[in-house]
Parts: sequence; C-alpha cells; structure tokens
Amino acid sequence: MPNGVGAFFFEVCDSTNARAATLAIAGEPGPLWVVAGEQSAGRGRRGRSWTSKTGNLYASLMFRPHIRPQDLAALPFIVALAVRDTFIAFGAPESQVQCKWPNDILIGERKASGVLIESSAKHGGLLDYVIIGIGMNLVHFPDDAAFGATSLLHVTGQEVSVKDAATVLAEKLYARIDAWKVDDFSSVAEEWTRYSWGLGQQRVLRTHDETFTATLLGLSDDGALIARLDDGLEKRLYAGDVFPVER
Ligand code: BTN
Repeated sequence: MPNGVGAFFFEVCDSTNARAATLAIAGEPGPLWVVAGEQSAGRGRRGRSWTSKTGNLYASLMFRPHIRPQDLAALPFIVALAVRDTFIAFGAPESQVQCKWPNDILIGERKASGVLIESSAKHGGLLDYVIIGIGMNLVHFPDDAAFGATSLLHVTGQEVSVKDAATVLAEKLYARIDAWKVDDFSSVAEEWTRYSWGLGQQRVLRTHDETFTATLLGLSDDGALIARLDDGLEKRLYAGDVFPVER
C-alpha cells in the first residue's frame, strides 16, 4: 500500500470521509489520506454524528481495490485490529483493548475508537472506491455517549500527537491490508474473535427496528454477528449496536 500514498491535511473540515469521497468522485486515483485537526460535521455509523474536537485523530483512507462489494466482509475487522495494534503501540494494556462488533475498539470496556467504512460501486459491480474513516480518542472522549467512552490519555496518562498516531495507524493498517486475502475471512475472524468483547456472554443488541438480549456466538463468513436468543433461535445481525446488559 505505501507506494505513492497522497495525503491532505485540514485544520478544520466537515468530515474527512466526506472530503475523501469528494476527492474520489473528482477522479483522484488514491490511495490517499484525509486527516483533519477538527471536524465540524463528523459522521458516525447509522446516521449518528461524531464529536470531533481538536486533539483526537480524524482520518480517512480512500483507495480503489478492484474487488466486489461482497469481498469487503473482512475489512471492518481488519481495520479494528489495526486500530487495536495502534492503541497497544502507544501503551494501552493489551489485555484491555477489545474489539466490539462491528468495528469499535474498547479500552477497559469503554469506547476509544469508531470506524465508518463507506464505499461506492461502479456499473458492472466492482468497487469504484472504499473509504475507511477512523476516529481515535487520543485526549478527549464524549461524556454523553450511549456507550461509555474513554481516551488514550485517560488510560495511559500519556498525550500522543495526532501526527504520531496517524503515522503508526497508517503503518498498522497497511500491514493488515497487505496481509488481507479476500478469500480468507476465517483467519481475520479468528483473530478478531480472540480479542472480542462479549463473546459467549449475554448482550443487548439494537437494530433499526428492535432491541433484544442474546448470547453472542461469533461471526458468520459474511461479517454478520451471530447471536442466540433465550429460546435457542439464532439471529444474524448485519447492522446494529451491542450494549452491556443492565443489571
Ligand atoms: C462510529 O463509531 O459511529 C464511527 C465513527 C467514525 C468517525 C470517523 S472520524 C474520521 C472519519 N470522518 C468522519 O466523518 N467519520 C469518521
């Protein structure tokens, strides 16, 4: 991946994902990074916003893999593992850095990073571009988050600069993308599962139209979360959120 990677840095922009999409649509060949010091309209998953104050990392990688949309199943988990690698490289205790489906990273059971992957396909089915948008809480974390949040500073007492975090994140992500074989979902799933939060345990699952409690079982080979309801029925989640069970 590192050959000829472009980079755009904005002190403030609306959303690095939005800027990366504009550049892709304008014909930039990629791969390229868009990094911002601050975002005025940071986007989260499922239409949510992403609070984006100066000090945290807001970065998007746009690239053009010549594959089909269904070949992206492993990508959310590859990215989550790269973000996990990055937090560990900056001193987060390895045992505390967990992956929460689909691609959040928790440190000590609190959310420290979110990932928003967006893609566009060409006529004929192959992808035109993919954008991996990553937010890492280096110093700030929202205290109004639906899921408890934290930052690297809060966990380690060390302040890491956006530049250093972006450099290490890019290295970790390239290493994982280079090792990625689209037909080998199982080894990615196996590694992600090893660090995942809540497998084998009961969690609250929320989709756009229902909320229910179930035991998390693992990943299907197209990236869905498999969960078992109390009556034994298995469900597959393709989009949604996972929360702790309130006791
Ligand atoms: C989520 O957990 O809901 C995903 C959050 C993704 C936030 C990042 S910050 C950089 C990139 N630009 C955006 O507008 N969103 C992603």
